[in-house]
Amino acid sequence: MKKKALVWIGWLVGSLLMVAYLTNLMRNEGSEARGPMIDRTAFIPGQTTDGHYQIEIKCNVCHTAGEGVRQDACIQCHGAELEAAADSHPAKKFKPLDKVHLVERLDALHCVTCHVEHRPTMTRPMGVTMPLDYCAHCHETIQTERPSHAGLSFQTCATAGCHNFHDNRGLNEPFLTAHLNDPDSLETMIVPARSAWRTNHPDAGSPAKPLTEVDQDAPRSVVVDSALTRAWVETAHARAGVNCTDCHRDPSDASLTTGKWVDKPTHESCKRCHEGEVAGFLGGRHGMRLAQGLSPMTPGMARLPMHAEAAHRELSCVSCHNDHEFDTRFAAMDACVQCHDDGHTRSYAASPHAKLWRDEVAGKAPAGSGVSCATCHMPRETHRADGVETVTVQHNQNDNLRPNEKMLHNVCIRCHGVEFAIEALADPSLIGANFKGVSAVKVDSLDMIRAKLAEIERKRAGRKPTQN
Ligand code: HEC
Ligand code: HEC
Ligand code: HEC
Ligand code: HEC
Ligand code: HEC
Ligand code: HEC
Ligand code: HEC
Ligand code: HEC
Ligand code: HEC
Ligand code: HEC
Repeated sequence: MKKKALVWIGWLVGSLLMVAYLTNLMRNEGSEARGPMIDRTAFIPGQTTDGHYQIEIKCNVCHTAGEGVRQDACIQCHGAELEAAADSHPAKKFKPLDKVHLVERLDALHCVTCHVEHRPTMTRPMGVTMPLDYCAHCHETIQTERPSHAGLSFQTCATAGCHNFHDNRGLNEPFLTAHLNDPDSLETMIVPARSAWRTNHPDAGSPAKPLTEVDQDAPRSVVVDSALTRAWVETAHARAGVNCTDCHRDPSDASLTTGKWVDKPTHESCKRCHEGEVAGFLGGRHGMRLAQGLSPMTPGMARLPMHAEAAHRELSCVSCHNDHEFDTRFAAMDACVQCHDDGHTRSYAASPHAKLWRDEVAGKAPAGSGVSCATCHMPRETHRADGVETVTVQHNQNDNLRPNEKMLHNVCIRCHGVEFAIEALADPSLIGANFKGVSAVKVDSLDMIRAKLAEIERKRAGRKPTQN
């Protein structure tokens, strides 16, 4: 009897210790800077999605130890981006949960209703873990409410050119209506020029006199290759008065007075003058590990196909901007193909867009008429603040990537008609061929809008006689 009880107590104590150990592992979220990170990935129930696998080791950004997923986690990282996208289904729409047509309550207040993690078998593109026809939960009556929707299957609500759940900037009716009759190729096919220097730091060195080789201010102790200094003299930096120590002094020294030389400046140094670019970089798949204090992303860790020779290159600002040269044309295409090696990337060189880009680089075509990788993936965006308009480069290459209709409003629409572009984006094999050729897909959402406009027109015409 006694012996049996002892065994039971032993088992109980053992189990409790095990639980305590595991809980502690989950909670002990070290950063690499604070010493080696404990690898808790063994406790993950299944592969983490493409969107988050880079940072999966940081369990705590999503989980509260022992209590599942933190309520605020998703919003903390994605809230601003969804808001900027004028999210079509924001939480506030769901507050009174019994809106008339909410037939079967679907808890849309919580992201995990539609996006669970570590469940590869049920995960669809964009981390969606809902069955395709989920719109029916709340819009069951749409087929009877709208004659135009009669007979449409709920499997098709989110097909190309129709609707997205969150971001409908490229698909909302006013936008589509405004561009409905644009020709396939617009009259002027040009993207806007980047703005000249705008400062966002008091110490950022507003336009100063251009610096020459004799002005360089590296301390004597630093061995400097003269080729490096010559490269710097040729850049926008030297022309704008940005000297060696502007980048090379210790960025953690807020007063910037100690002048401690850092040999390899990181994005922390650039941030002082290029806040927006740094934020964009950290928000996408190139910089998301650095944003979490993890080691930089490398092609070797990637899930997408990459060049084997590039496996150990670390993602930073100078992956695209060669240090000291900062040649933005090199950054826009040549840099990308040093790492990326998928079919879409390899097909680019033979596309009409690539020809336009080569012509621009060779000076045979006007600035802004070429289409590089960056034209689509790192678009120039126009901002308006205090009556001043600026054009800067979006450094989050995931910002307009998926769903790909997002690319309409800040890229294609500058050169193409909306119908042409939607149909091109709806054809996966055309994307694979990097847009060499014509789309095999016909999108009929625009015909629905045309029919609706014609109907309005007809009603108005019909009413006219009685009004007069
Ligand atoms: C990007 C956010 C994110 C990260 C990082 C993350 N998880 Fe998860 N995890 C989730 C989500 C979302 C679920 C699904 C929760 C649900 O179904 O309610 C989940 C579910 C789980 C579950 C299943 C139990 C449950 O609560 O449903 C376990 C176990 C788990 N995660 C462990 C881990 C561990 C261990 C790590 C770190 C090595 C980790 N997760 C990192 C988001 C994350
Ligand atoms: C620490 C920041 C962070 C947290 C927390 C986080 N995410 Fe993410 N998430 C990212 C980043 C960075 C990406 C990759 C870049 C991108 O696709 O925007 C991403 C990607 C995604 C994607 C895939 C997008 C695509 O195009 O494939 C979805 C969906 C998503 N997150 C939803 C969620 C949900 C839901 C939660 C909460 C359970 C969550 N995220 C928590 C940072 C985060
Ligand atoms: C009712 C289901 C549903 C809920 C709830 C939901 N999503 Fe989504 N989410 C989707 C679908 C479907 C997509 C695929 C693209 C689309 O249709 O917009 C998606 C795509 C995304 C993407 C990638 C594409 C993009 O537009 O940025 C992110 C990031 C994302 N969701 C984050 C979130 C976050 C954060 C929450 C919680 C605030 C959330 N989602 C709640 C259904 C949902
Ligand atoms: C959890 C419930 C729910 C789900 C799931 C849902 N919706 Fe909605 N949807 C709403 C609510 C609530 C509104 C606001 C309606 C109102 O104000 O009358 C709305 C509004 C809309 C609108 C009006 C236009 C707009 O952007 O404001 C469209 C279009 C729409 N939803 C399409 C869809 C599609 C397509 C899906 C599936 C991809 C979907 N919805 C999934 C609840 C939902
Ligand atoms: C002290 C401020 C300052 C710092 C620090 C700084 N820059 Fe700059 N940067 C500038 C100025 C000023 C320009 C010129 C803008 C113009 O042409 O109007 C510029 C321009 C650029 C350009 C555009 C070049 C071109 O030819 O158009 C790139 C790329 C760039 N910086 C990258 C970086 C990177 C990467 C870092 C960090 C390693 C960095 N900068 C650090 C001030 C700074
Ligand atoms: C716009 C920012 C910027 C300016 C201005 C700048 N550098 Fe650098 N420099 C960098 C970055 C970023 C690196 C690190 C590159 C890397 O990580 O490989 C670097 C690296 C170096 C290195 C180490 C080289 C190596 O390959 O190991 C030296 C030496 C150097 N810079 C000297 C200078 C001198 C001298 C000047 C002025 C004539 C200067 N830098 C101006 C950003 C800058
Ligand atoms: C994936 C490649 C890539 C990476 C990584 C990258 N850039 Fe860029 N950057 C570009 C390209 C391409 C352009 C020029 C695009 C154009 O001309 O339209 C550019 C332009 C710029 C410009 C000038 C234009 C502007 O208004 O934004 C600055 C400043 C800049 N980058 C800073 C940075 C900093 C700081 C980092 C690191 C946080 C960084 N870049 C990382 C590709 C990159
Ligand atoms: C130093 C290597 C390197 C360079 C240079 C580079 N990338 Fe990447 N890129 C990566 C890695 C690694 C990833 C993450 C892939 C993954 O998670 O599977 C990535 C991700 C991406 C993604 C997101 C893919 C997705 O499915 O979410 C796009 C788009 C992209 N890069 C475009 C570009 C463009 C455009 C350039 C040039 C302006 C460029 N990259 C330069 C290594 C690089
Ligand atoms: C005309 C616009 C355009 C050009 C030019 C372009 N892309 Fe893309 N790229 C896209 C679109 C659209 C997608 C598909 C997004 C989706 O639907 O998932 C894409 C997808 C990608 C992806 C993600 C692939 C995946 O499987 O997730 C990478 C990486 C990428 N492009 C890199 C590049 C590189 C590198 C170049 C230049 C050699 C380039 N792209 C040129 C529009 C473009
Ligand atoms: C800077 C202007 C510009 C931008 C931005 C642009 N294109 Fe193009 N595109 C062109 C030009 C010019 C042509 C060649 C037209 C011709 O030959 O008549 C072209 C050709 C095409 C073709 C036909 C290729 C062929 O083999 O005939 C497709 C498809 C296409 N673009 C799709 C897109 C999509 C989708 C986007 C947005 C992701 C986009 N383009 C962005 C300028 C642009």
